[in-house]
Amino acid sequence: MEVIITDSYEAMSAQAAKMIAQQILHKPSSVLGLATGSTPVGTYKELIRMHKEQGLDFSKVVTFNLDEYVGLPPSHNQSYRYFMDHNLFHHINVPTGHIHVPYGHAESVLDFCAWYESEIKRYGGIDIQILGIGGDGHIAFNEPGSSLGSRTRLKTLTQETITDNARFFANMDEVPRFAITMGVGTILEARKIIMLANGSKKAKIVAEAIEGPVSSQVSASALQLHRDVVVILDKEAASKLKRADYYKWVYDQKAKLMPALIGKAT
Ligand code: GLP
Repeated sequence: MEVIITDSYEAMSAQAAKMIAQQILHKPSSVLGLATGSTPVGTYKELIRMHKEQGLDFSKVVTFNLDEYVGLPPSHNQSYRYFMDHNLFHHINVPTGHIHVPYGHAESVLDFCAWYESEIKRYGGIDIQILGIGGDGHIAFNEPGSSLGSRTRLKTLTQETITDNARFFANMDEVPRFAITMGVGTILEARKIIMLANGSKKAKIVAEAIEGPVSSQVSASALQLHRDVVVILDKEAASKLKRADYYKWVYDQKAKLMPALIGKAT
């Protein structure tokens, strides 16, 4: 696992966008795994800027989003599809047919989940997966207790997640109780994973996920089992890491001696 501690949310976002852009330049038909939440918004803004100002081309890119609320149509302004359209897809040239976001109104959630998994495989798997982290340590909507081998499925949200998300809805009763989410096992099959976190609110759970034991109680801790994970943090989110000085030292050494290795887990 490589941990990069940046000075600010903007620096974290720029670093993540640079890695995604490098992936697209290296393989124009890259399959991107995308996340919602406030954390990746800056990364998406930077990718939009690169598209508009530098011609970063998404015409061959394929995307798979991590999750979606059950019961919200894609047109609902709190659905993850709506979020992605407005924060990224409408501002870049990714073809609509290349975009996959779990469908929260599927007639059979079971069939939909099996289809989603098979589509990811049909496109050759995810090249680079972007993740945020929930207050309870979840990645996507893999709430505490999710099997570390889980696949795309229906998940009941915890009360903590429902409360966290209530800020986006008119009242608590409107917040969905269920979601379709890629499983931890699905996520771990991505070839490369970038997890982002910012702000002091995330410091404790980030430390548990990176330096604590691997446990289904903190699904992000499963990333310790993956061989190519880069965690990019701002300094507030990194403030409870015991080995922060070592991570900074590693980064500085690479920057000085082997800059091409930054962003490659070693
Ligand atoms: C939701 C999403 C996660 C996201 C998390 C954190 O639960 N399902 O994918 O990582 O929110 O959100 P934020 O980035 O707003 O802190």
